[in-house]
Amino acid sequence: MGLPSRKNCGACHFYGGGTDGVKHGDLDSSLFSPNKKLDVHMAVNGPNFSCTACHTNVNHHMAGRYSSDPAPVIHKLAMPKDYGNRISCESCHSSSPHKDSKLNDHTDKVACQTCHIPRYARGGVYTKMWWDWSTAGRFDENGKMIVKRAANGTIAYHTKKGDMRWAKDVKPDYAWYNGKMDYLSLADSFDDSKPVSLNRLEGSYDDPKARIFPFKIYLGKQVYDPARKTLVIPKLFGKKGSGAYWAEYDWNKAVAAGMREAGEPYSGKIGFVETKMFWPITHMVAPKEESLTCDECHSRNGRLAALAGFYLPGRDKSDWLDTLGWIMILLTLAGTIIHAAIRMASRNKQKKEQIK
Ligand code: HEC
Ligand code: HEC
Ligand code: HEC
Ligand code: HEC
Ligand code: HEC
Repeated sequence: MGLPSRKNCGACHFYGGGTDGVKHGDLDSSLFSPNKKLDVHMAVNGPNFSCTACHTNVNHHMAGRYSSDPAPVIHKLAMPKDYGNRISCESCHSSSPHKDSKLNDHTDKVACQTCHIPRYARGGVYTKMWWDWSTAGRFDENGKMIVKRAANGTIAYHTKKGDMRWAKDVKPDYAWYNGKMDYLSLADSFDDSKPVSLNRLEGSYDDPKARIFPFKIYLGKQVYDPARKTLVIPKLFGKKGSGAYWAEYDWNKAVAAGMREAGEPYSGKIGFVETKMFWPITHMVAPKEESLTCDECHSRNGRLAALAGFYLPGRDKSDWLDTLGWIMILLTLAGTIIHAAIRMASRNKQKKEQIK
């Protein structure tokens, strides 16, 4: 049969969500035959790693998963649990791969991926960043489906899927992450007055296992139950009469059918809520010359500008200097006043002594 190639794994993982690059920002068809600039490991003119060079496996259980439980719990799919042999960059490189000790000093707080994957979707394929299902289901005056394209050629509207925005060569967002994620399940209710996070990252500056890690933040709007404040499962595929959205274009029918088939409760009401999801960026490692430079983080408006809760030299220096400056000024002022007061007091004393 032969060992699986990038073609085998990519056939599923590059196209999840309908087409190329819809889900992951770092796994798309450009990795079938990347050059070294796109991916130093999978480069055909470099080490030409297959996926399984890193994702080692035992009895078809693939190493390297992010989620601690599979999405559909009842199906017991490929990976019921973390298989222990979790892979990391450190598995091959150790946590101090640099000659420069200042760089090695960073690896306890900054993930390798953060410095070595400066941008994602770098292979020319666009990745979907925004997906608004609430606008789906519009037809033109002849009852035909509408497909509109943006200036860059990507699909901006599709009757079946609603409005969407795509991007390539994107700067990641950064967050503290200790390797554990929590996923919102169908039973979890949420506050629908703000965007709902479909997954939650664990970790903070004080967590020794956490690092600053790069992510694609995927935004969208999807159907939910506004009475129970829970997500719902719409039925998409199916024949006319089955309630399937892509046959009848009626969200009420699609959700009723989906929830009936899943055997899950819902109120009978539907609405749309904004959602947000963190997708880890871990592939498309760039050549070492393109690693982040010091000032991309250690500056006021650098990549970590939004990450609060810890002191970062360069970024926080100005505030600190401001405070220090004010303290110095106040001390000087206080010193001058005290000095003047002492002199006045001693002059008075001298005067009194002269009078005596
Ligand atoms: C250079 C090593 C390396 C190669 C080559 C590699 N991966 Fe990964 N991959 C990783 C690491 C490291 C993780 C993070 C795993 C973890 O934290 O347990 C990961 C995570 C993943 C994930 C889950 C996380 C996510 O991004 O949502 C998927 C899916 C994945 N890889 C698929 C692939 C596929 C498909 C290929 C081949 C096209 C591939 N990988 C090639 C190192 C690699
Ligand atoms: C037939 C489609 C298909 C093929 C082929 C496939 N995968 Fe997957 N893979 C999936 C699905 C679906 C999941 C999610 C399974 C789950 O949630 O339990 C998954 C999960 C994973 C994960 C864990 C992702 C995470 O976020 O935790 C990794 C890593 C992975 N696959 C790597 C690979 C590699 C490497 C190959 C090639 C040897 C491969 N897959 C081939 C469909 C596929
Ligand atoms: C703070 C940013 C930063 C972090 C974090 C970081 N690196 Fe680097 N890395 C660099 C820079 C910059 C270079 C290029 C300069 C050099 O070669 O010393 C580099 C070079 C490298 C090289 C090439 C070394 C050589 O001598 O050819 C490897 C391999 C590497 N890094 C792996 C890693 C791994 C693995 C991690 C995580 C354990 C990591 N890096 C974390 C910035 C970083
Ligand atoms: C299965 C082992 C393995 C894993 C896992 C692995 N690497 Fe590598 N890496 C290598 C090898 C081998 C090379 C040397 C490639 C060459 O000389 O062209 C390399 C080269 C590099 C380089 C130097 C590229 C250059 O410009 O010379 C960097 C940076 C790097 N890896 C970072 C990472 C990061 C970040 C991860 C995690 C996402 C990672 N590696 C995971 C084996 C691995
Ligand atoms: C990816 C962002 C990032 C890059 C790139 C980066 N740093 Fe940092 N650096 C950090 C963070 C985060 C901390 C805080 C770590 C802590 O509090 O433990 C830090 C801390 C430091 C510190 C103070 C703590 C110490 O280890 O002495 C120095 C000095 C420093 N970095 C120098 C550098 C230099 C020099 C470079 C370039 C070679 C660099 N950094 C590149 C994120 C970065």
